This record gives sequence, structure tokens and C-alpha cells, in this order.
Amino acid sequence: MSSQIDHLLTETRRFAPSAEFAAHAVGTAELYARAAEDREGFWAEQARALHWHTPFTRVLDWSNPPFATWFDDGELNVAYNCLDRHVEAGNGERVALLWEGENGDERRVTYAELTDEVKRVANVLTRLGIGAGDRVAIYLPMIPEAVAAMLAVARVGAIHSVVFGGFSADSLRARIDDAGARLVITADGGYRKGKVSALKPAVDQALADRGGSGVQESVEHVLVVKRGGNEIEWTEGRDLWWHEEVPAASADHEAQAFPAENPLFILYTSGTTGKPKGILHTSGGYLTQAAFTNRVVHDIHPETDVYWCTADIGWITGHTYVTYGPLANGATQVLYEGTPDTPHPGRWWEVIEKYGVTVFYTAPTAIRSFMKIGRAVPQTFDLSSLRLLGSVGEPINPEAWVWYREIIGAGAAPIVDTWWQTETGAIMISALPGVTETKPGSAQVPLPGISVDVVDDAGEPVGNGNGGLLVVTEPWPSMLRGIWGDPERFVETYWEKFADKGYYFAGDGARLDEDGDVWLLGRVDDVMNVSGHRLSTAEIESALVAHEATAEAAVVGASDETTGQAVAAFVIIKQSYLTAHSPEGLAQQLRQWVGEQIGPIARPRDVYIVEELPKTRSGKIMRRLLRDVAEGREVGDTTTLADTAVMSVISAQVR
Ligand code: PRX
Repeated sequence: MSSQIDHLLTETRRFAPSAEFAAHAVGTAELYARAAEDREGFWAEQARALHWHTPFTRVLDWSNPPFATWFDDGELNVAYNCLDRHVEAGNGERVALLWEGENGDERRVTYAELTDEVKRVANVLTRLGIGAGDRVAIYLPMIPEAVAAMLAVARVGAIHSVVFGGFSADSLRARIDDAGARLVITADGGYRKGKVSALKPAVDQALADRGGSGVQESVEHVLVVKRGGNEIEWTEGRDLWWHEEVPAASADHEAQAFPAENPLFILYTSGTTGKPKGILHTSGGYLTQAAFTNRVVHDIHPETDVYWCTADIGWITGHTYVTYGPLANGATQVLYEGTPDTPHPGRWWEVIEKYGVTVFYTAPTAIRSFMKIGRAVPQTFDLSSLRLLGSVGEPINPEAWVWYREIIGAGAAPIVDTWWQTETGAIMISALPGVTETKPGSAQVPLPGISVDVVDDAGEPVGNGNGGLLVVTEPWPSMLRGIWGDPERFVETYWEKFADKGYYFAGDGARLDEDGDVWLLGRVDDVMNVSGHRLSTAEIESALVAHEATAEAAVVGASDETTGQAVAAFVIIKQSYLTAHSPEGLAQQLRQWVGEQIGPIARPRDVYIVEELPKTRSGKIMRRLLRDVAEGREVGDTTTLADTAVMSVISAQVR
């Protein structure tokens, strides 16, 4: 970490937006002034950019911290805001989704068509008994139906829980059970890496195998989109085809108004324990900040821009910057089904050229892997339509930032490095592209209406030039409202550390430079960030110990050139297992096992079989030392270990 900090502090390059960009930018310096003078009034103005069936009279209620409400006496319909109102304003023929399948399939979906589809799906949901407050799990590839499904659930006031298609049947089942979902919307399969990757079998497995767990099955129906054309099993009475139900349903559906605090979605994310947390977001405040930040950070001009956010809808970035923000703003966007390198390594650049993408939002890990392939690939495509680039999910190193600007942005496009989290719902820290002089590697400044600080353990500001913990000091409209079913964990995880100050603790280390700009330094807890995906060390450890061979396991995030961090696991094997089995290939088997238990994204890069783990006298595993080993460094201070010899044994075994 310290070498990274030194490196960051020597970064002195600055890039001002061109006069041309600044002149047409949506986000202006006046926004900062307005928010500084009246923060709540500022957010009320942003909220009024939405359509309210019943206008709100109250803005923020923070009388019962940390439980906030925003605009709570107002009523709106989230889907109406993303669809009908654009059609009613005469923009029904504008393209909402430019969909590109990995296999080259294409669909252009206008706002009128998407509205029609969502109304039909809403009628299907109502017929299946889904209404306000019911939970619907969505397990779909990146196809237009995924966006339509989310919006239809929102339209009837129900709550979606989107589960990333790369998660295993077990992970899906845990999420379905935790939320008590009544309906699952899935597909037979989708295209990934050049072939059809099945989804429906995981749903079948999740719903079939209750293994005497005592869990009451909450799911009544499974609505299945035909995408992959792969052979699937069918449960009569439970399973329904989308292509039979949706076209047969009426396209008349009037959007009802729901209270601003009506829950909109639950999205599971990794925390510091083995059990993922269901982050709960509500409607009015979330949509306000989603739309506002997409407008001012991505500089959306809906009449002319072609926007593309590469995130999957299974992550928060896909929720806020594929579905809700851009559609609330009436933008035209690319939706791409597959992986960046199929069928060839220039696939993304080809998509940008084909659709004339103007605003592009992706993750540093993708940029670093393109850097590795080399500039020759993007340079064979015409990327001249790009005028703004964004980055999200992990710190972007200055080298990658500069490569992104030079090679993808032709040395001219501003880059917005956006810091936020599943919990914050929308962007919190970022340059405004027409205003801020950008610095490679720094997320820079809180957005207008957002207050953050970097503090020490006691909650005191560290001041410019120093490092500490990142906190949000004032409530914000798209803040999480809780953890599904676990209000105590919500308070403990985010609010207890700085309870006397009322600060939200983000879990990230950060540093303020001499100008007061924020540099993110990564998580300070046991959460890893692999390719911009959040993973918990505890969750992977519990998957490892669930294997019959494992006696004990410790997992750390080790720095990795491409993925930012990589999962490194240290595993002690049971003696009883070794007497009956050969250890040959066991590391590989354990990697595979974790992939099956959680999903391929959690598969460790390295599994080291060791005889002991470094523990303090109180029995706590010292992950810091394991990280030293996994990163090939000299092992740090071992004096607090119960057995100081253990690290030399481990280092020798790993080598
Ligand atoms: O550590 C921070 C990192 O990603 C975490 C949030 O992960 P998740 O909830 O999955 O949301 C990712 C997409 C918003 C944060 O705690 N992170 C996110 N954006 C950045 C970042 N770290 C540095 N710079 C960023 N721009």
C-alpha cells in the first residue's frame, strides 16, 4: 500500500476540459454554489426533475438516524418516470436500447416499444399475484427483457432482487430465500464467450434441492425468456414462457403512484461476514440521485448522445447507470450481452464504432486488460465519436487512466473517475467533466449536495496531505435504507463506528491531497475487490471449509496487475482426508469447488496448501502476513503471532 501512496503523490498531471466541452456541459460550477447554500433545497430541485403523481412537501427526515426518509409525503411511479413520460412528451420514437447480442443479434427498442412491453409484463405480474412489496428475483443475461423485467416489477410497486447470471445455484438460492421471492424471472440461457451458457438449470436446482433445510419454498412461478435456445427442463404449472405470456397480455396498464419510500430493490453484496447483505433501496430519493448523477457526471444530452455503460444489471452499476439513470433521463444507450473479447479482442471498440457511442463508462480492470493486449487493437476502429469516458468500481492507476485518455479518448475526452458503492446507490465522488481539472488516479471531489471527509479512528478530520477513513457526513437521497431483514447489521456495519458524529463509514481508506482532492486507497476491511467485483474473504473461506478435504482456510486479496486484487487462499487439509486420498490436484479441485459454490468470479487465483496458519495469541488469523506471502514480499512484523516460526514454514511451503 505505501508504495502505491508514494506513487500517487508524485502524480501532478492535470487535464482541464476543452472550452468546447465546458460550454455545452450539463453540470456547471453553479451547482456547487447552489448546493452549498441550501443542500436540501438543492436536492428538492433535482427531485422535481422527475414526475410526481403527488408532489412532496418534505425533503429530508433525519429525526431517527441512521434511518432517513427523503421526499416521504410525495408519490411517484419509477417506471412511469423511465418510460411513459418520455412517450407522452413526444419522444416515443427515440431509441432507448441499442441491443447487441454477443453472437451478433441486434434489436433496437424505442421508448414507445419498451413502454408497451413493460406494461404487458406488469399485467402478467399482476395476474400472477405480484403486487406492492412482493419480491421478484431476476436472473437474466444482458438482454432487453432484463431491463423490461426490472421496470415492470417497479411499475407494480414490487421489489426486485437481481442476481448476477454468473452466480451459482447455491448463491441464487440463498438470495431467493433471504428475500422470500415469489417469482423468478430467468432465461433458458444467454451467450457468453462464444457459446450458450445455461441459466434455467441453476434456477431449477435452486428451487429443487431443499435437502431438509426446513425452508418453506416461497417461489410460485418461474417466467422464462427464450434466448439461448438450449434444451431445458420444464415444471408444469410453475414455469411460464415469457414469449407466450407477455405478448398475450394487454398493453394497457396505468402506472399507480407509490410513496417515495416504497422499496424499489434489494441487491446482495459481500460484507465482512460469510452471508451477503441485501442492500435495500427505495424509490424517490434513489431515482432522483440516479438521474441527476447520470445527467451531470455522464453529461447526458438525450437528443444526441449514445451512451454505453458496460456493467451487468446484476451489479449496482447496472441498476443505476443502465436501467434507472439513463432511462429516467430519456437517453439512448447500448446494451451488450457478452464478454469484451468474443469473438475477437476488439469487440467493444467495434460496438463503439458501429453505434457511434459518445459516452463510455467501464471499469479499470477492463482498461488494464486492454492495455495488456495493446493499442493496435483499438486503433483499428473509429472511436472518434467518444467525447467522455468514465471509470468505476476500483481505483484506477494513473498509467491506465492516461492510456484510457490517450488511446480510447484520442487525448481529448475528459475522464470521470466515479467513487460510490452498492450502499450509496449512486455516484458520490467524481469530477464534473465540464468543470473539474482532472487528475489521473484521483476520484477528486464530492458531487454537489454530497458531503464527505477523511477522518482518523476517532472521527477527527485528518486534513489535507493526510490519509484515513472515508466517511459521508450528511445523508444523501440514494442512500441505502437498510439491510433486508437485518436492521441491526445495518446500524453496526455502517453507523456504529462514528455513531457520535452520525457519519456513514464507507469501509474505504482514502487520502486527501494538498488541494483537498480524494484519492481512494482500497478497502480497510475484509472485503476484496476483484475486477471491480466485491467479494468477502469470509464467504470464500466458508465455501472452502464446506469441502470435505478442508480443515481450515484463510483468504486474502493479493494485488494483481489486471484484476486489481486476486483471491489467494491458504488451506489446511484434514489428516483423515490425506490418509484416504492423494493430495495431487487438490488445489485445482478446491478452486473449482469455490467456483461452483459461489460463482466463477470467486474462484481463487491461487490455492496454497499449508500445514498451519499465522494466528495471534487470541486466535485471530493475521491476514496481513498471508498477503505478504501471496504478493511475494518479505513477511512483515510477526511479533504478535502465537508461534513466530509459523511464517517461515508457510513461506517455504508456498515456494
Ligand atoms: O472500495 C470501493 C470500490 O468499490 C467498493 C464498492 O463496491 P460495490 O458496492 O460493488 O460497487 C461498485 C460500483 C459502484 C467501494 O467501497 N470503488 C468503487 N468505485 C471506486 C472504488 N474505489 C476506487 N475508486 C473508485 N472510483
